Amino acid sequence: PLRPRALSGIQPTAGSFHLGNYLGAIRQYVALQETHDAFYMVVDLHAITVPQDPAELRANTRLAAAQLLAAGLDPERCTLFIQSHVPEHAQLGWVMNCLTGFGEASRMTQFKDKSAKQGADRATVGLFTYPVLQVADILLYQADAVPVGEDQRQHIELTRDLAERFNTRFGDTFTIPAPHIVKEVAKIYDLQDPAIKMSKSASTPKGLINLLDEPKTTAKKVKSAVTDTDTVIRFDPVDKPGVSNLLTIYSTLTGKAIADLEKEYEGRMYGALKTDLAEVMVEFVTPFRTRTQEYLDDPGTLDSILAKGAEKARAVAAETLATTFDRMGF
Ligand code: ADP
Ligand code: NA
Repeated sequence: PLRPRALSGIQPTAGSFHLGNYLGAIRQYVALQETHDAFYMVVDLHAITVPQDPAELRANTRLAAAQLLAAGLDPERCTLFIQSHVPEHAQLGWVMNCLTGFGEASRMTQFKDKSAKQGADRATVGLFTYPVLQVADILLYQADAVPVGEDQRQHIELTRDLAERFNTRFGDTFTIPAPHIVKEVAKIYDLQDPAIKMSKSASTPKGLINLLDEPKTTAKKVKSAVTDTDTVIRFDPVDKPGVSNLLTIYSTLTGKAIADLEKEYEGRMYGALKTDLAEVMVEFVTPFRTRTQEYLDDPGTLDSILAKGAEKARAVAAETLATTFDRMGF
């Protein structure tokens, strides 16, 4: 292909994606459809690194795909598929496990965070090696660019290291990928605690904007966002993290520059900013909810999009895996 390749994956989560997922990752998936040969997948194999109910996993996986389409992924312009539909992920994952140092895997901060949350004695080996499966996810598609939020940077570094290690040991096989991180939105913060990132697992319900919340719930959450005791609306992530987070969200959703927003709100109170942002958010989530529901109500169309996606993905993945196995002596 003449276009560089993009690849990313997102876990199926209960309920819905949150605003951090959308601004940090999914928006970039949509943008890269125009410039890249783009592959996006719902990573259901990653979801079972913590306990899952089978019926819920199945429903959440479809819900995730429906939301990605609702957010603007176009099956005519990208390849959208479900990770478990392409068995090569698990196969290359094993190869990558055998190239990864135990100490190297132990240094992954996402594993440390997630296993701490699980309780060290309950964390599975799957949770420990999921960054390595992520390496396989990326390398199978010879991806050049991996759109992700800041929290994934270390995993992309691991991917580059393992690709180089394999290429050195067995001959040039894998493209060395680079993270595609948009600095301004790489870390969206919790609305109640702007010291932590917005996240499904760490945020309280009020601090987390779920994209499928009732619009009036969304508006309420925005209006009760934590700011500071000052009154000036200025972008200053160190001294004014709450206000700066709201400005980032506002600017990204409207396309207005932050400097222009600062001017627009000069001399006005935080309440004005929050009321206007609540309106912007409602305008964004309302059609998103409708479109997601339309895909869920039409399971035939969704199935056919995902079947076509899996077929296209498998063609690429199978070729990479065959070369890899051959180089390794299988
Ligand atoms: P979570 O961290 O809530 O469990 P995931 O790990 O499934 O969400 O993340 C999916 C994508 O969304 C990843 O690319 C991740 O970097 C991005 N992401 C998650 N939370 C945020 C955030 N608060 N700000 C920006 N990007 C985020
Ligand atoms: Na994450």
